[in-house]
Amino acid sequence: MSIIIKNEAEIEKMRIVGRLAADVLDMITPHVVAGITTNELNDICHNYIVDVQNAIPSPLNYRGFPKSICTSINHQVCHGIPSEKKLKTGDIINIDITVFKDGFHGDTSMMFCVGKVAPHAQRLCDIARESLFLGIEQVKAGTTLGDIGHAIQTHAEKNRYSVVQDYCGHGIGRDFHEEPQVLHYGKAGEGLVLEAGMIITIEPMINQGKHHTKSLGDGWTAVTKDHSLSAQYEHTILVKENGYEILTLRTEERK
Ligand code: MF3
Ligand code: CO
Ligand code: CO
Repeated sequence: MSIIIKNEAEIEKMRIVGRLAADVLDMITPHVVAGITTNELNDICHNYIVDVQNAIPSPLNYRGFPKSICTSINHQVCHGIPSEKKLKTGDIINIDITVFKDGFHGDTSMMFCVGKVAPHAQRLCDIARESLFLGIEQVKAGTTLGDIGHAIQTHAEKNRYSVVQDYCGHGIGRDFHEEPQVLHYGKAGEGLVLEAGMIITIEPMINQGKHHTKSLGDGWTAVTKDHSLSAQYEHTILVKENGYEILTLRTEERK
């Protein structure tokens, strides 16, 4: 196994599927309100991906995952399985969307606040998003993965949060998870040197308490060991000679 450099035709397909994944987050936004179940959110996204986008939700049956999206609430770190649980005012929830179309996957996630949330919960979400973008801003040919991780870790820890170490970003393309592993912590200048044409996700999970996680008995849901809140944002990023292109920008993020 090695890192795949995408050609222009492949990059164009990644742009299309990245846009589709972002569109699902835009579409679902008005539905993320108190009283809706995560199963209902799953079904709305599933039907949109299949019927409107003529695409496939990558998580469904991926290594046995039973649903089409991941929904991770409050102290859930990632890979939460949609269920009959209802959202309630004050919850923070990550919705992680991966879409497969024309041979390629696009992967993106964001936090939603259900109604009015506590200031400390809002702040955690803000810092997680800022950490993602500080990581993204490092990306160009010649940067190392350590530079990305370092930028993320520095910002999170400066705000007295911790960075989850048990899950990471990844290469993405014809496979959902390709090489390399993209750690969200590290030392500047260390690790793999990025090359133009690589496509990776950056998806930091930031905890209010300690970084440790554990898996629930469902085999998927990761939660913080100390039960503290966790927040995550994810984009799919193309490495360019002199910078980066975010392939999963939502409407509000496009200029
Ligand atoms: N979308 C997740 C990621 O960012 C992976 C979810 S795997 C699943 O890598 F099986 F839980 F869907
Ligand atoms: Co991902
Ligand atoms: Co994802």
